[in-house]
Amino acid sequence: MINQIQEIFTQHFGNHASLYASPGRVNLIGEHTDYNLGFVLPGAIDKAIYLAIRPSESKLSRLYSVDYGESLTWDLSTGTLPEKMWARYIYGVVQEMQKRGARLQSFDAVFGGDVPLGAGLSSSAALESVFGFALNDLFKAGFSREELAKIGQMTEHNYIGVRCGIMDQFASLFGEKGKVIRLDCRSLDYEMEPFEAPGCRIVLIDSMVKHSLASSEYNVRRMQCETGVATVARHVSGVESLRDITADMLETYRAEMDATVYRRCRYVIDENQRLLDGCDALKAGDYETFGQKMFGSHEGLSKAYEVSCPELDLIVETARRIPGVVGARMMGGGFGGCVISLVRKEAYEPLLTEVQERFRSKFGETPRTIDVTIGDGARRL
Ligand code: GLA
Repeated sequence: MINQIQEIFTQHFGNHASLYASPGRVNLIGEHTDYNLGFVLPGAIDKAIYLAIRPSESKLSRLYSVDYGESLTWDLSTGTLPEKMWARYIYGVVQEMQKRGARLQSFDAVFGGDVPLGAGLSSSAALESVFGFALNDLFKAGFSREELAKIGQMTEHNYIGVRCGIMDQFASLFGEKGKVIRLDCRSLDYEMEPFEAPGCRIVLIDSMVKHSLASSEYNVRRMQCETGVATVARHVSGVESLRDITADMLETYRAEMDATVYRRCRYVIDENQRLLDGCDALKAGDYETFGQKMFGSHEGLSKAYEVSCPELDLIVETARRIPGVVGARMMGGGFGGCVISLVRKEAYEPLLTEVQERFRSKFGETPRTIDVTIGDGARRL
C-alpha cells in the first residue's frame, strides 16, 4: 500500500516525500464511555492511512486522495471550509494546529489506506492522526501525542459536527503492537496491557450497514448523558460527568429524570464497571469472564443505549450460540459497522458459516469478515 502511495506521489509531485502511517482501531470493551470521562480498552490495528508528504515553496498546498481519486489545491492561510468531506478532516487538523500556535507551511500530499471506510474502525481518526503526526514532525510544531489526539478530536467537533470522545484518536496515536490501551478518559492516564488470548483471535464481522444515522444520534446520546449529569449535580456537589455518579446515586435521583435519560446513564455506569471487571479477568487470564462482559456490553448498547441495529444484533445473537465464541459485541458509535468477537480457533469457521447463512437468509447479503491484529500507532516510515 505504502509503495503505491509513494509512486502516486512521484507521478503527481515528484520526489523526496516523507512517509507516515496512522492506524484504525478496535475497542474490546467500553463503548460510549469516553465522552462520559470513563474507561475504554482500544488497540490500534494493522490497517492504516498512509501519507506521502513534502513541504512546498508555493503558496498553495496540493492534496490527492487515492481512495476517492480526487485532488484539491488550497491556500492554508485562508479560512474557508472545503466542500469535500475528506478534505475537511485535513483542513480541521491544520486549523486546530494553527490555533494552538503551530507555524505550518504549504505542503504536497498523497494519502490512502486500507482501513475499511464506514465500518466503525475509525478511518477518520486515522486520517486526522496521520496528518497531525506528519505536520507536527515536518514543521517541528512540538505537540505531544496527547495534544495531537486532542487536535484530532477537536477536528471532529469543530469541522465535522461529531462531539466525539478521545478514544479513536488516542488509540491511533498511542497504539502498540500486541497491546491494548486501558485508558482513563478523565485523567488520560493509561496502561498498555499485553493482549494475548492463547488460542483465541479477534474476528470482525461487518454488518455492511454504513452508520449514516450515527453522527446526529451520537450527539443526542451525548446530550442525554449531560442531562442526567445535570440532574444529579443539582443535588450532589462535585459531580461533573457520569464518571462521578455511582449506580446508587443515579437510582436516588431517578424519579427526577426522563426514563430514556435514566437508561442512557445507567448503561454508561454499568459499562464502566464491566470494563473494570473485564480488565481484572484479563489480567487473571480468565477469558470466559471477559467474554461475558462483552456480551453484556452488547446487550446494554442494544437495549438501553439503543445504538445497535437488527444486522448487528443478529450477528451477536448468532455468535452467542456457537461454542468457542468467547464474547461478541457491536463496536464503535453504532447504527452499523462491525461486531468484534473473541473466538477460539476451532470456532472460527463455524462462526463465519453460521453468521453468513443466517444473515443472508434474513438480509439477503453476505457480511464481510475483516481480519485484524493489534498493530502499532502513528509513525514515520
Ligand atoms: C465513536 C467515537 C468515539 C467513541 C465511540 C463509542 O467511535 O469517535 O469517541 O465515543 O464512538 O464508544
